Amino acid sequence: MLSYQHAYHAGNNADLHKHALLCTVLQILTRKDRPLTYMETHAGKGVYDLFSTEALKTGEAAEGWLALSEAERVALPAGYIETVKKMNSGATSPLYPGSPLLAAHILRAQDKLRLMELHPQEYAGLEKIFTDDKRVQIHKRDGLEGVLSLSPPESRRGLVLIDPSYEVKEDYEAIPAFMEKLVRKWPEACVLTWIPMLPAGRHEGMLENLKKTFPALRVFKAEWAKPGQGMYGSIMVGINLPHGV
Ligand SMILES: C[S@@+](CC[C@H](N)C(=O)[O-])C[C@H]1O[C@@H](n2cnc3c(N)ncnc32)[C@H](O)[C@@H]1O
Repeated sequence: MLSYQHAYHAGNNADLHKHALLCTVLQILTRKDRPLTYMETHAGKGVYDLFSTEALKTGEAAEGWLALSEAERVALPAGYIETVKKMNSGATSPLYPGSPLLAAHILRAQDKLRLMELHPQEYAGLEKIFTDDKRVQIHKRDGLEGVLSLSPPESRRGLVLIDPSYEVKEDYEAIPAFMEKLVRKWPEACVLTWIPMLPAGRHEGMLENLKKTFPALRVFKAEWAKPGQGMYGSIMVGINLPHGV
């Protein structure tokens, strides 16, 4: 099912949570020279116009990125802010980076990016952005199947971002099962997974399940509303994260 489009949600509070942590982890990992491989199961199209019809329809960016003061922006990881500044030079409406663009900005010449995106339009958008970037390979295939088949990469050091839309409730079980398989194939992988907090409460069972499978699981929770009105928060979970996160 491919009805989800991130253009409606780009730059919302959940994106801020996910992208701030992603940039923090990548900045720490890139302190060592050894090459890294960055993979994404659900990459999106990479760039979003926060004044697009889709963004204006939900108003989520207006409560997220666009609501941040300059002081709040400056407190975010440097790679995050630099990416936004760079992409907005000369822009006529505010542009916001997707996770692949943030990662590409922080990663170095010796690193590789392997991005999975199934939606034809989002895939085409990604291809356009990264045409000239030799570090990047984009795959139009199922993200879980794709990342598993490419794991472990030759470099062994790396990070996997798992960012599905959870449109189907089966994802709450499929993602933990996927994480288990991934870590079995690639034990050194750093893994970051995004989970929405919705009134149905499915995140609770998923989190319990993950804590049992991964006793050293790191959990980062952000809540911005009272439960009861759609998504009220999000959880990022991490495995094998570097010291200092
Ligand atoms: C939440 S968005 C990704 C946002 C992106 N990671 C970011 O932070 O900028 C989820 C994306 O997954 C894509 N998608 C849905 N099902 C997929 C699948 N089975 N495999 C790969 N991509 C899929 C959707 O088209 C959508 O672009």
